[in-house]
Amino acid sequence: MQNKRTLIITGGAGFIGSHVVRLFVNKYPDYRIINLDKLTYAGNLANLRDIEDRPNYRFVRMDICDFEGVLKLMQDEHVDGIIHLAAESHVDRSIKDPFTFAQTNVMGTLSLLQAAKAYWESLPEKYEGKRFYHISTDEVYGALEMTHPEGIEPPFTTKASSGEHHLAYGEKFFTEDLKYQPHSPYSAAKASSDHFVRAFHDTFGMPTIVTNCSNNYGPYQFPEKLIPLFINNIRHRKPLPVYGKGENVRDWLYVEDHARAIDVIFHEGKIAETYNIGGFNEWKNIDIIKVLINTVDRLLGRAEGEDMDLITYVTDRAGHDLRYAIDSSKLQKELGWEPSLQFEEGIEKTVRWYLDNQAWMDNVTSGDYQKYYDEMYKGR
Ligand code: NAD
Ligand code: DAU
Repeated sequence: MQNKRTLIITGGAGFIGSHVVRLFVNKYPDYRIINLDKLTYAGNLANLRDIEDRPNYRFVRMDICDFEGVLKLMQDEHVDGIIHLAAESHVDRSIKDPFTFAQTNVMGTLSLLQAAKAYWESLPEKYEGKRFYHISTDEVYGALEMTHPEGIEPPFTTKASSGEHHLAYGEKFFTEDLKYQPHSPYSAAKASSDHFVRAFHDTFGMPTIVTNCSNNYGPYQFPEKLIPLFINNIRHRKPLPVYGKGENVRDWLYVEDHARAIDVIFHEGKIAETYNIGGFNEWKNIDIIKVLINTVDRLLGRAEGEDMDLITYVTDRAGHDLRYAIDSSKLQKELGWEPSLQFEEGIEKTVRWYLDNQAWMDNVTSGDYQKYYDEMYKGR
């Protein structure tokens, strides 16, 4: 792959995107990194304050649905790679407003693909050296059962296809060959966008890659998602709304480990392949919530566990998927990636970050973060 590249990273002002932008800007000074983001409620340029003045970084406020705008940007900047993260990402919002999810996640991805196709096919070398990398989710595979061998209560030790043993709540994992069975409007829209990306490879020969990752956690996550929402609520002693019985299982990966996987796959992944990304790290929601309460209490000098009574069971999320568990052994074997952090370490780091960055949290919860763009980019 070339030493100099010009990449568009879409959704770079969001949670995962900001970590990917930061990694690429720092690690590849010879690359030009263009962060293309509409700045919806989930986009926050304060997530990138530490790198915003770097010479190899440019922010462009644009909607991925703006085909003409994206095409012109690609022509002007000679873009040879796209890492596509922009999406509506919150399941609860998709239940209330599926149209926005279809518009952004499906039509937005299609518009981006069409712009890339129009630009790259106009060049003499066409698709040579180009790459369209689409970031998707494990939720497209649907939900797994909680199973366990006779007489053994989960979690038990099971063997993933990597051959390694892991604590798990069932014997099955999401593997790359599984059929898509999305349940929420969010995952249905993501599934549709994945199909479009693969169709552009199969029909037009566009060099595409798709990855499906499990739940991410870490700094800069919008506080509508379980972990940052609950850390903030525990701090302020507000109720913790646990959906259903808190028995649902999610498979958690530290966000910087996801960003590292994206770097490896972008540079070394095989064209037209799908890679699952995850750390074999399944947790029931209620168990994570207890860890969060104990950690926040301890770090704030409270008696560990004194805030357990904030746990409040509420009506379950409609269509709530029971269990996600990713088998990432293909990525681990073929490209040598593996997670760098144990969960206990990652959670401690994450709780500390939110407690130490209360100003970031207050800026988001007050809505002030949305004024940042106008102030920062006035006259630029
Ligand atoms: P996020 O909601 O934090 O950020 C999304 C970003 O996309 C925001 O900056 C937003 O402004 C931008 N955006 C939204 N609509 C846009 C549009 N029309 N045009 C341009 N920009 C737009 O999301 P996230 O949690 O960082 O997720 C990023 C990607 O990773 C998504 O594609 C998501 O499906 C996928 N993913 C997320 C997780 C997770 O646990 N968060 C796990 C696996 C995959
Ligand atoms: O699996 C990957 C997906 O993980 C990503 O594709 C999504 O973009 C991301 O939002 C995330 O989806 P989830 O729905 O799993 O994440 P969320 O943080 O919303 O919820 C995690 C679990 O916690 C889920 O089982 C629902 C539950 N929950 C969530 C909230 C916000 C609660 O019990 N109470 C809550 O208030």
